[in-house]
Amino acid sequence: MPLVTSTEMFKKAYDGGYAIGAFNVNNMEIVQGITEACQEQKAPVILQVSKGARAYANHTYLLKMVEAAVIECPDIPIALHLDHGNSFELCKDCIDGGFTSVMFDGSAMPYEENVKIAKQVAEYAHAHGVVVEAELGQLAGVEDDVHAEEHQYTDPAQVEDFVTRTGVDSLAIAIGTSHGAYKFKPGQKPQLRFDILEDVSRRLPGFPIVLHGSSSVPQEFVQKVNKYGGAMPDAIGIPEEMLREAAKGAVCKINIDSDIRLAITAAIREHFAEYPADFDPRQYLKPARQAVKDMVTHKLVNVLGCNGKA
Ligand code: G3H
Ligand code: 13P
Ligand code: ZN
Repeated sequence: MPLVTSTEMFKKAYDGGYAIGAFNVNNMEIVQGITEACQEQKAPVILQVSKGARAYANHTYLLKMVEAAVIECPDIPIALHLDHGNSFELCKDCIDGGFTSVMFDGSAMPYEENVKIAKQVAEYAHAHGVVVEAELGQLAGVEDDVHAEEHQYTDPAQVEDFVTRTGVDSLAIAIGTSHGAYKFKPGQKPQLRFDILEDVSRRLPGFPIVLHGSSSVPQEFVQKVNKYGGAMPDAIGIPEEMLREAAKGAVCKINIDSDIRLAITAAIREHFAEYPADFDPRQYLKPARQAVKDMVTHKLVNVLGCNGKA
């Protein structure tokens, strides 16, 4: 099947009480690790490309690698999504350039400007068979090299107005998740504002909600990174049981990037510690790709619940 939009995936996920994994892709090994896991688990998947990924790997390379995955994984629906598009022009470029879904992220803009551009993106996207995610509220953490200290939780009172006026297809909300590998301070009890999620879901019945910043930062990876010469003390993520809870309700898309980075880095550090003479990239990228595949398999089956749903 060709690249699909997320419309059908989200409808089934909403009704079935599970979530679709949205994994960031930056190179071939990442695309392969994710999609091999999804193909084996018969899981629908969203592959997402950030502005930084396009700058690093080039739009066409990423598109063609994802199209290759579509051919190699004939049993599963795959959507190609722009992550955190910050302008109409960037979204348009990806819509014109073969993506099936785009995020317009106007969360840092004044509300009326966010509404205006999200609406413009939705109109253009829908005319081209592409779906749109937008965001209300702001995540703390690192995003495009900007570090926000404080969460700006989504105001549930805004969501109906925003969705109605913009016509977007899904909405990312801020309930205490954050980008990167340092989501909570050491000793701080991880907490998410499930009350906000419930309020939003009540106001938007049947509407797909997205959670960004949802890596769990598995401690086995952090320990391995640190054991083999890395320096990531106090890296902490979102507990898996919280993500399982969110996936049961209106949350249909869960974004994961940092866990991919960690899986790869841990595997490569371990490889070089054990085989210091290796210098063929295939020697260390192979276990790195396998680590991505194993990590994604675990997410699909034990966190997202989307295995067997293709
Ligand atoms: O939300 C941010 C994603 O992890 C993408 O990160 O902009 O460094 O590619 P990036
Ligand atoms: P993490 O940093 O928690 O993996 O979040 C990724 C994300 O939200 C991509 O948009
Ligand atoms: Zn994000």
